[in-house]
Amino acid sequence: MIVLHEPSELRAACDRARANGHRVGFVPTMGALHDGHLALVAAARRASFVVVSIFGNPTQFGPREDLARYPRTLEADCARCADAGVDVVFAPPGEAMYVAGEETRVHVGEVATALCGAHRPGHFEGVCTVVAKLFTLVGPSLAVFGRKDYQQFRVIERMVRDLCLPVELVGLSTVREADGLALSSRNRYLSQDERARALGLARGLSLAVAAFEAGERNAGRLRGLALGEVTRVATSVDYVTVADADTVVPLDDRDTIPARTLVAVAARLGATRLIDNVVLGEDPAPLEARA
Ligand code: PAJ
Repeated sequence: MIVLHEPSELRAACDRARANGHRVGFVPTMGALHDGHLALVAAARRASFVVVSIFGNPTQFGPREDLARYPRTLEADCARCADAGVDVVFAPPGEAMYVAGEETRVHVGEVATALCGAHRPGHFEGVCTVVAKLFTLVGPSLAVFGRKDYQQFRVIERMVRDLCLPVELVGLSTVREADGLALSSRNRYLSQDERARALGLARGLSLAVAAFEAGERNAGRLRGLALGEVTRVATSVDYVTVADADTVVPLDDRDTIPARTLVAVAARLGATRLIDNVVLGEDPAPLEARA
């Protein structure tokens, strides 16, 4: 495995791999790698040459968000990537990805407006801009993302379709701790008490799944079940939303849910913002995900 820091070196390494007949698989990350990221790497190995990027992308963080304290564990991350059979780790400095004077952003429309789009202005523009740049440098035929960031996956799908990017996207199910908590780089910030309370997100989503399985189809009642549980444990709630899973447009509480329905939550435990979601009828109840 090689570790590269310069975009031109990354492009050259991927060009060489393709010239040698490889298909390139790609997993973009911000580092602090956990088993969720590693599951994406395993899926990317369907391609014969695997690239992982590790870049704390400044344009997707707001001025009052946690970029400065985002965990940086490059050495451990590289060791995990080497063990997982990664060919190239790309860890560029900020100025290499955003050259002085740059002023271009990739903007995606309605699918990026609700949920995290509403609560983190500019977030998805930052995500799409960096992912588009990384796709251009890597030229992957396959790129793997997690459905833990469900809206992000949908937004990137939209961008890929709208810009005719020649890459196949794979969206993997959320990897969870044994008790149901979604793995996240931010979990390491949680105190013991916050870690215990954080399970309320998974519990709330599990209540919605159970109600759905028992026949509940009213958006407001499904939302209320998740919201009750999240409100009980969270320091503050950003959103608990029931949305059309294809368009990510929120439903009204009076609506009957459509064929594919997303229940998504974002809440703070202390200063740490956590997100989680399920697609009803597709994902298992988080509390039973490992059972
Ligand atoms: P990051 O939060 O590091 O996540 C990288 C990838 O890992 C994303 O596709 C995310 O959905 C996936 N992931 C995170 N936790 C997961 C879990 N518990 N189970 C399965 N997959 C999980 O998402 C980003 O970075 C950035 O926005 C990025 C796409 C790299 C652009 O900067």
